[in-house]
Order: sequence, then structure tokens, then C-alpha cells
Amino acid sequence: WFGHVPEAPRDPILGVTEKYLADANPLKMNLGVGAYRDDSGQPVVLKSVREAERRVAGSHFMEYLPIGGHRQFCEDSAKLAYGEDAGVVHGKQVAMIQSLSGTGSCRLFAEFQGRWMKGSKIYIPSPTWSNHHNIWRDAQVEEVIYPYYNKETKGLDFERMCDTLSKAPAGSVVLLHACAHNPTGVDPTREQWQELSKLMLEKRLFPCMDMAYQGFATGDCERDAQAVRIFLNDGHRLALSQSFAKNMGLYGQRVGCFSIVCEGPAEAKAVESQMKALARPMYSNPPLHGALLVHQILSDPELKQQWYGEVKEMADRIISMRTLLRQNLEALGSPHRCAGRLAWVSPCCCVCTSATRSCCGRMDEPWAGPTGSWAGHKRPLRRRSPRPAAGISSGQGAAPHSRLRTCPTCAKPAHPGRCPVLAPCVFRGPCHPTRIPARSWQHITDQIGMFCFTGITPEQVDRLTGEYSIYLTRNGRISMAGVNSGNVGRLAEAMHKVTSS
Ligand code: LMR
Repeated sequence: WFGHVPEAPRDPILGVTEKYLADANPLKMNLGVGAYRDDSGQPVVLKSVREAERRVAGSHFMEYLPIGGHRQFCEDSAKLAYGEDAGVVHGKQVAMIQSLSGTGSCRLFAEFQGRWMKGSKIYIPSPTWSNHHNIWRDAQVEEVIYPYYNKETKGLDFERMCDTLSKAPAGSVVLLHACAHNPTGVDPTREQWQELSKLMLEKRLFPCMDMAYQGFATGDCERDAQAVRIFLNDGHRLALSQSFAKNMGLYGQRVGCFSIVCEGPAEAKAVESQMKALARPMYSNPPLHGALLVHQILSDPELKQQWYGEVKEMADRIISMRTLLRQNLEALGSPHRCAGRLAWVSPCCCVCTSATRSCCGRMDEPWAGPTGSWAGHKRPLRRRSPRPAAGISSGQGAAPHSRLRTCPTCAKPAHPGRCPVLAPCVFRGPCHPTRIPARSWQHITDQIGMFCFTGITPEQVDRLTGEYSIYLTRNGRISMAGVNSGNVGRLAEAMHKVTSS
């Protein structure tokens, strides 16, 4: 019967765990799946969750939940995302059902889109969580990729993103990561969210927000809901997928909420009935235990405060590991690349990087360091105070060549004065050979959330795994939640070795 069935490829994320489990090396590290670990590398059950467990123990039958799941849990979840006083929740404008965590929510929406938004396409950011592609593919909704991450600047490609979305046909659905973008750790700023919201309203694009990491971006669940609330205040109708896997550590409980903000109560009632019609033949009804735990926590002000504190603790530990990883890598040094000649220009300064400016492009020995002195170089004759420009931070007071930044406009190394492309270098007086690090690790601390998008190539990832038993996804994503003070040194050394040879 099944001789024709080929073996399916391993999942790019969960397949990493399978390989990790099969490795006998006692020093192995699993930095693949996004699952929180404490500083000794152990999984964590939050104290608020333990207390909720204690409270619900023995107090319930094990009956089926309704198809839509635990109603009060859904309302608590909706308030967590849309706001305690959100008019759309109180006005019964939100269709909502309990879902099987983030994947289950997205899948329900994809099915809903296929059935009730006929012919519409899903716009998916590049890159995104790998399972998003599977979800919409299996729901047979056509996918269009939109640019999100700029590899050169290691930041958001906001201009190209807006440009692509502005050309999307009206009625298209745009998948947005509400906070702590997976895998890049790069989110739009508040102003960019506002701009995006306006653009999508104007172009009649429907937002589908995936919020799997509420609390992990800033450590504050309220602040992490800013994108949802900006869109809501602007009057969008939207779909939202919530998961309590990460922020409550309820991974295996599969507890989430899928909601759609509708025009009014009558529409919400109809939409919710169709959501249930999708759920019933797929899994009938969702599991009980996780929903009871979340409901206990979110409906008790004291327990909720305790949980807020615990989310912040997890987020803060990840932030401190980012700092430690970057410090370790920088302490190991990094080869420096000759950036040609450093010249002061009027009215500001830039680095002449082109070959015509005698850049040798050589890799060099590690140099004194980013804030090191001008060792061996003469000071430039002309020095003008750089005029800070938008997007380039100033780094006042440091030696000039320590203030190289990547220009967000042209992605070239630039001083904090002005983009060398917009204001071409006016070469003046004696210039000074300078060297810039071949690889900067600044993005490790710039990024937010559970993941670090290292910029390491798939071949370098293979070396990390093959030579050092360090497991991560081949796109170079590291789950910072798996980094701790005991393994960060070894991780930095391995990253340094594979990126410098
Ligand atoms: C991840 O991105 O690692 C998590 O969302 C886990 C998963 O299911 O992929």
C-alpha cells in the first residue's frame, strides 16, 4: 500500500531537536527550538503556573470543552492582546475560539481565509518562521513573499516592505509578527507600525497578526501589544493568533486563542460559528488543562502580576545572554578588513571604501578594538564635528574610526555624519588607512526576543553542529533561550572559529 511513499524531510526547527537528542557529546547545546531554559539549562515551570495548577487540581471534571474551547479563557486572552478596556471586546465585536497554540491558530485562520476570503493571497515576510509556509501551503492559499529583513544593515527593510505591500491587490492578507519577529529579532518601530497601519488601511489589506511572543520583546506584555493596538485604534479589522507556549511556558499544553475583529456583534457571531465549523472536523475541541491554567492566572490580579514579573525575568535573562555572547565574541577579536582610507570631508565625514580609493580588502590581524586608540595612525588634519543624521547614531567622543556605522540607506560603512552615497565623499587632505572589523556582532544586542539571527551561513552552521555539537537552524538562528552563563564562552569560541576560518 505504501511503497510509493517517500520519507518526508525533517522539519527545519523540530528536526534540529531530533538530531540533538541523538548526539552523545556531553557538551552538546540545543539552540534550535525556541523553548526557554534557565541559567543552568533546565526547562522552567513558572511559579504562577504552579500556583494555578495547585488551584485547579481536583476541581474539574475531565469533560469535553465546547468546540470553541473555554470561553472565559478566550475573553482573558483577547483582553491581554487588545487591552483590558478594548471596546471591540466589550462590544462583542471579536469572534474568538481556543486554539492549539500558535500553529493551530494560524492554521485555523489559513483555512478560514481559503474558505471565506476566496482568491485572496497571503503576504508572508522574508524570512519568517518556517512553519508559516507549510500552514498556508496546506490550506491551499497562494503565498507571496514580501521583503522584511535587510542582510546588509541587519535591520528592517522597511522601504522595500512598504513598496511591495503598496502594490498588493486590495483584499490581500498580510502576515505580521506582532512582536519579537521570528527568526530575525527585528521589529518595526512604533512610528513604522503606525505608517504600516495607515498604508494597509489605505490599500485595503487585511492584517493577520501572529503573536507568539507577547512579553518576550520588551519584558512587558502591555508594551508588546503595541502593534495590535495601533492597528485596532486605526480601525482595522484583523485576525490574531495568540500562544501561551512561550510566555507562560505552557509548550506541551497547546494553548492559544484565535480571534477575528469584526464589524459588529452579528458579524462576529457568524464568523465565530464558521471558526467552529473548521475546528470540529479537524480536532473536535481543544484540550482543557492549559486553558484552565491561563484563565486562573489572567483572571486573578495577584497571580497575573506575579506572571508579569516572571515573563520579565525570562526576557531579562535572554537580554543579559545577548550582552555576554557579544562581549565574549568581541574579546576573542575578529579579523579586520581594510576599509581603504579614512578621510574627513566637508560638511561631514565618510569612509572611502571603493577600490579606487586604494582599499586592499585584506583580512588583517585583530586590531586594538573598536574603542582603541589611533595606534600607529596620525590624527586627521581636518576634523569637523559630524552632523548626526537620522538612523545613524552619533558615538560622540570616540576615536573617529571607532564610530563607523552601517548606513541604513546605502548599507555602506559610514560615519555618523551623513550617508556617503547621498553626500559623496569630498576627499580632503591627507587621509588615513583604517581598518574595520570584518564582522560586527552588534546585531546580537540590537535584536530582541527569543532569537538571534546571527548572519552565520548554512555551511558555518554545519560546522558548528559537526565540530562542536552546537545545534541551531540552518538559517543561522540561535535560540538565545538556550544560552546560559555556563555555555556562552564555548558558544562564542565556536562561532568565532567558524566565522574566521
Ligand atoms: C520555534 O520557532 O522554534 C518555535 O516556534 C517552535 C516551533 O514550533 O517551531
